[in-house]
Amino acid sequence: MVKFRLNGEQVVSESPTDTLLLWVLREEMKLTGTKFGCGIAQCGACTVHLDGSPARACVTPVQAVANRSITTIEGLASPVGQALQQAWESEQVPQCGYCQSGQIMQAATLLEQNPQPSDADIVSYMNGHLCRCMAYPRIQRAIAVAADRAITEEPAQ
Ligand code: FES
Ligand code: FES
Repeated sequence: MVKFRLNGEQVVSESPTDTLLLWVLREEMKLTGTKFGCGIAQCGACTVHLDGSPARACVTPVQAVANRSITTIEGLASPVGQALQQAWESEQVPQCGYCQSGQIMQAATLLEQNPQPSDADIVSYMNGHLCRCMAYPRIQRAIAVAADRAITEEPAQ
C-alpha cells in the first residue's frame, strides 16, 4: 500500500508498489485526464504535479510518491490553473486534445515560477511537450493570455 495526497485528498493505492503512477491514476483512481503517450518520458502527455513540480507519471513508480502530494488536471484549481483553462478555451487550443492536459500542467508550473514569461521563456519551458496536431502556436498564445489574465485578476494588496 502507498499513501499519498491526490488533488488535496489523502488516498491509498493498493496496487503493487512498483506500479507506475500513470496507471494508478488512470486505472485505480479513475482519473483519466492524465494521458499515456510514449511511456518513456519523451512526450509530456502524462505530466502531473509532484509537490508542485512537473513530473512524468509514466516513469514514476507509485512508491516514489509515498507521503507526497500529486495534482492532476482534474485538481488544477489554482488561480493560474483556472486562467490557463479559460485561455485554452478562448484561444481554442486543442485539436485532438490528447496532449493538452500535460501541456496545461507544464504551463501551470511555468506561470507559478514566472508570472510574466516572454515568448522565448514559454517556448523554452514547454520544450519537450509534443503535440502531434501541431497546436504549438495556440498553446504559446494561450499561455501568454493566461499570464495577462492572472496578473489582471490578482487581488489588490
Ligand atoms: S507518456 Fe509520459 S512522457 Fe510520454
Ligand atoms: S492537440 Fe492533438 S496531440 Fe496535441
